[in-house]
Amino acid sequence: MISMACNIAGVAFKNPIIMASGTFGFGREYAEFYSPELLGGIVGKGLTLHPKAGNMGSRIHETASGMLNSVGLENPGVAAFLKDELDDMTRWNTAVIANVGGSNLEEYVQAAAMITENAQKRRTMNRRGVDMLELNISCPNVKQGGMQFGIQTEVARDVVRQVRNVTALPLVVKLSPNAENITQMAVMCEEEGADGVSLINTFSAMKIDIRRRRSVFANTYAGLSGPAIKPIALRMVHQVAQAVSIPVIGMGGISSVEDIIEFIMAGAAAIQVGTYNFVHLHAGSELVYGLEQWMQREKVQSLDEIRGIL
Ligand SMILES: Cc1cc2nc3c(=O)[nH]c(=O)nc-3n(C[C@H](O)[C@H](O)[C@H](O)COP(=O)(O)O)c2cc1C
Repeated sequence: MISMACNIAGVAFKNPIIMASGTFGFGREYAEFYSPELLGGIVGKGLTLHPKAGNMGSRIHETASGMLNSVGLENPGVAAFLKDELDDMTRWNTAVIANVGGSNLEEYVQAAAMITENAQKRRTMNRRGVDMLELNISCPNVKQGGMQFGIQTEVARDVVRQVRNVTALPLVVKLSPNAENITQMAVMCEEEGADGVSLINTFSAMKIDIRRRRSVFANTYAGLSGPAIKPIALRMVHQVAQAVSIPVIGMGGISSVEDIIEFIMAGAAAIQVGTYNFVHLHAGSELVYGLEQWMQREKVQSLDEIRGIL
């Protein structure tokens, strides 16, 4: 019997295919195309303590092999998420991961504490809550003049430590490829008690509108994702997986079953799919069925047989 199941920090995933933050809404948006229950898990749109309107001007630009986005973390805020979205998300039999951001330390800590408290309360009422937290440390740090938290290991350490202090939920830290040293960053997360790391977030990148002689994006730079970043993401996942003993969730440009297998072979416990959701509305179901067929064809009973073989 083929099994695609995996377990990360005590959370059971029926398969290793998880939809990445910011590319799948809170799940409802895709439910008319296929059932989110097919998926291993869903990471919701990135949440901040307070509602956020996001960036002005252009937010998306297609490149030759990926896309640039400057959405600016538009989201309804933690309280509205818990009130209006969570019931729908937990209705489906798939793992629910809340992605949390913030522009200062207190925001991260308060948001994580609110989600944790809500999960505990729901559990006492026999209701499902958030299964796992994913901490997005790629947010601009207001106190440091807008530099991302996720660039310097010691700045990120504070966030991971303080969030760990307020949450008993499984905690995965999402790493930025813009980090000065991504392996060091992952090792720090393990030292601070994170249950896993996920990587990678988008690369800082740029597009110039030559007719208007200025950047396409109001913030000048935007985040690059999609097939263009896959080879680099794969290398980073391979390096990080060798440096830590906590599970690694890999992502960056995954758009086929073969891409998933590469990340698993590089050591990923599970993977996330982002930009491909915009290319193909049925991305999740295509990949879940495709992975099962691949395992049958290759006579692989469990992904443990190929995980981290490189
Ligand atoms: C439009 C868009 C919005 C995103 N929003 C978030 C977000 O809110 N939080 C986050 O951690 N990552 C966010 N990401 C990053 C993705 O979750 C993912 O890490 C990245 O796109 C790389 O994977 P991919 O190449 O498969 O898209 C966003 C990406 C895109 C394209």
